[in-house]
Amino acid sequence: LPPHLTVRGGHLHIGEHDTVDLAERFGTPLYVTEERRIRENFRRLSAALTAHYPKVRVLYAAKANGNLAIFRTLASMGAGVDVFSAGELTLALAAGMRPESLLFNGSSKSPSDLALAVEKGVRVSVDSLDELRQLNAAAGEAGKTVDIAFRVNPAIDVPTHPKIATGLATSKFGIPAGEILDAYRHALAAEHINPVGIHCHIGSQILDVEPFAREVEVLIGVARDLIEIGVDLSFIDIGGGLGIPYRRETDRAPAPEDYAGAVMPVFLKGIHELGIEPELWVEPGRWLVADSTILLSRVNSVKTAHTTFANVDAGFNLLVRPTMYDSYHEVVAANKADAPAVREYSIAGPICETGDILAKDRMLPDLSAGDIIAVLDAGAYGFAMSSQYNSRPRCPEVILSGEKAALMRRAETIDDLTAPMAVPPWQA
Ligand code: LLP
Repeated sequence: LPPHLTVRGGHLHIGEHDTVDLAERFGTPLYVTEERRIRENFRRLSAALTAHYPKVRVLYAAKANGNLAIFRTLASMGAGVDVFSAGELTLALAAGMRPESLLFNGSSKSPSDLALAVEKGVRVSVDSLDELRQLNAAAGEAGKTVDIAFRVNPAIDVPTHPKIATGLATSKFGIPAGEILDAYRHALAAEHINPVGIHCHIGSQILDVEPFAREVEVLIGVARDLIEIGVDLSFIDIGGGLGIPYRRETDRAPAPEDYAGAVMPVFLKGIHELGIEPELWVEPGRWLVADSTILLSRVNSVKTAHTTFANVDAGFNLLVRPTMYDSYHEVVAANKADAPAVREYSIAGPICETGDILAKDRMLPDLSAGDIIAVLDAGAYGFAMSSQYNSRPRCPEVILSGEKAALMRRAETIDDLTAPMAVPPWQA
């Protein structure tokens, strides 16, 4: 277990808190985040990179967990934010981030997205020439100039789930490396556009550092061409994607030091040869927040059929990763954490779908109704991907700081389900 998760008196603890007490006090299902762990993760990743080169900027990928308290935690550490929507952009600013520390990413920005970036003075990662044309027009209308990067598609195949590999030649993201020079020529010629960076992201949950090194090599090649046409590069953004060991027993996950050790020498050699000193930007999401958070869920009933099901109160409405990507999340019997594992369980959620299984074939202590389980590493793409499917109000999120525990999001209610609905006039 990571250091912020311990077993004391037979109960799983997170930070200074007994998970069973938290479940009693706040109810289940419940997301619980340990703030200190996020700080530690941020510090470790930053230090690993800046040990090689001081001009590093860490932009938290907001999509991993969009809660304001998470943004504030990371803002206080000096992080910027990779935002992928007007909502993420607005929340990041609301959390106190400065516009200069944001990058607005995305392959399908609407006219109002572009207008917002221009208005707020946020740099944009542009994904197509069509988008460039629209952004230039929006900036012109506002009488402003926008700093941009293009998202490069490096055509790199990465070992991860196909749904989250983004740097493939066939993916919807970015401009092929072969066409990128032409794109920058257009940007240089555009009156209200200032090309200042290169952006790339090859995928997520990558457990091998070699693809990142190859990515940086591609980006250095792009930088070489850009210098020749007169682009003044102030940053190279290599995206996020560093994976974590969801299967602690068997996954070999690179440490941030391994990641830095793979990418930084390629980067430094490249920029040295080119005689430039751009900032290096990274956009980690998962690595910063995944292990900071657990999902607590209560066993409603146990049933033995062809396998033994523990039917719990959290399903893919709250954590879709196992259903969507066949992801593995470790499960701990929170109130029986010392008890011997005696039986194989499938942990099944309350959603009306066969695929609503949080964990398959796990050896766990004898479970019965009322027991609490903890699903680990739920901090990235957990609550962020939750839904109200089956008309289930979303659960609350609690954040811990030392001895303190507070809601960072209240439980949704039935009123929250009905509030946005409207009765069509002919039914009134
Ligand atoms: N930058 C860009 C442009 C991205 O698209 C992403 C993730 C990141 C950074 C952050 O990647 P990370 O460091 O978290 O791997 N829902 C999926 C993951 C989707 C990732 C999408 N883009 C999952 O639950 O595994």
